[in-house]
Amino acid sequence: MLGASSPRTLEPGGTPAPPLSLCCGGALLAILMLLALPTAWGQCKAPEQFSSARPTTPIDESEFPIGTSLKYECRPGFIRRQFLITCLPNSEWTDVSDKCIRKACNTPPDPLNGRVHVQTDTQFGSTITYTCNQGFRLLGPSSALCILSGNTVVWDNEAPDCERILCEPPPAIPNGEILSSSEDFQYGMVVTYRCMPGPRGKKQFNLVGEPSIYCTNDPDNNGMWSGPPPQCITVNTCAPPSVKDAVMVSGNRSLFSLHDTVQFQCQLGFVMKGPTSVQCGALGKWEPELPSCSRGCQPPPGILHGQYTPSVDIFSVGQEVFYSCEPGYDLSGAASLQCTPQGDWSPETPTCAVKLCDDFTSQLLHGHVELPPSLQFGAKVTFSCDEGFRLKGNSASYCILAGIKTQWNSSVPVCEPCPHPPTIQNGHHIGDYTSSYLPGMKVSYICDPGYLLVGRGFIFCTHQRTWSKFDHYCKESQKPFSVLPALSF
Ligand SMILES: *[C@@H]1O[C@H](CO)[C@@H](O)[C@H](O)[C@H]1NC(C)=O
Ligand SMILES: *[C@@H]1O[C@H](CO)[C@@H](O)[C@H](O)[C@H]1NC(C)=O
Repeated sequence: MLGASSPRTLEPGGTPAPPLSLCCGGALLAILMLLALPTAWGQCKAPEQFSSARPTTPIDESEFPIGTSLKYECRPGFIRRQFLITCLPNSEWTDVSDKCIRKACNTPPDPLNGRVHVQTDTQFGSTITYTCNQGFRLLGPSSALCILSGNTVVWDNEAPDCERILCEPPPAIPNGEILSSSEDFQYGMVVTYRCMPGPRGKKQFNLVGEPSIYCTNDPDNNGMWSGPPPQCITVNTCAPPSVKDAVMVSGNRSLFSLHDTVQFQCQLGFVMKGPTSVQCGALGKWEPELPSCSRGCQPPPGILHGQYTPSVDIFSVGQEVFYSCEPGYDLSGAASLQCTPQGDWSPETPTCAVKLCDDFTSQLLHGHVELPPSLQFGAKVTFSCDEGFRLKGNSASYCILAGIKTQWNSSVPVCEPCPHPPTIQNGHHIGDYTSSYLPGMKVSYICDPGYLLVGRGFIFCTHQRTWSKFDHYCKESQKPFSVLPALSF
């Protein structure tokens, strides 16, 4: 065996004797435990490779008895030192993680107009990054790695430079000039435009747009101007109005003078925000402000007996609208539509179909039922009685809504003739018994024996389905008690 070693030692608790005296279960368990161990009891396997250290002499054996010590040394990039690892009674080697300390690169100074950022530390294997102050851009690598160089550690990259961001000279404009003394347009610098005055200082042009622009940076940290330069427009004229994704549907011409009006329409798939028509105003400005076109849909189609929500003027791509119908109508088709990137609505617009009531099948005895052409919500069925019959109940039934269902709101009435004739005391009426007493029918009355009929003695059924005046009665023909009265008192 190579490397330092100490004699093999067996610690008292290191190899406990299996409890063979226990019965079968226990013994079996102990054997299974032994089988499950990664290495044979009392041995260490050859140690793994460590990124921070290596053995001072190559290791050939694959197993080492407990107590064996091996000599290691830290690898380059780590502070050089030697140490031992030992095979412990649990068949593991002692820990090496804290044995070797990484060497550190020196902390570099901030570059001029920039900064260095230490991520975790400056030790071997670590990275630092560089950034530049606002208005400057990085020239060179943006990071450096602490690497090994011979026996020591160094940064793999030199610190970068921070270069001032510059803009191109600002664009010249016709009939205008730039008020600036500098030749060098650095980040942040503002330039202001002015229109040329006319002869004898008379105003000849209007400045349209932002009078000043400044030097800023694009996403790649190249210099760029903050916006387009303004325009110098002849007084009482306007620059051609330009609206992105729109066409001029009327008023397009080569020169726009005071009060000229133009009208815009957005291209397909775009919706307009702002006025559709603008006018050239006195200061060379379009009034009101020019509209804009953004991707979206016009409001979706309206539907008869229904509506959609939300009810707004502009719908963005992907937005949904929900249709619903008035009470008494059923939605037929998709309940929700979506604004497509093409600027239309999908799927097709639904419709509201009127709800129907059940077929009206009931008959009316002594009368008839008049059905409307269609039995839809709101339809009216009317009832009428035959000549000589009176309608008792409702003369019509309507198809109404009950919750979300439709139904007829009234039951079928009855057609009645004259009611049963009135009774008389001490007598009765005569005539054919009939269930229907029709107008003109006559009913006569007779009195019980011992009574005399006083009056006309008959009634008839009128056209109003009532009986004619009942003005008779049965009177006692003898008065056996009439002599007794008050005298007895
Ligand atoms: C106005 O007319 C010119 C020339 O015909 C054309 O090039 C231009 O596109 C038109 N502008 C608009 C916004 O329609
Ligand atoms: C049935 O509905 C109609 C119309 O709404 C109404 O005028 C009538 O009173 C209703 N009849 C009954 C019995 O509710």
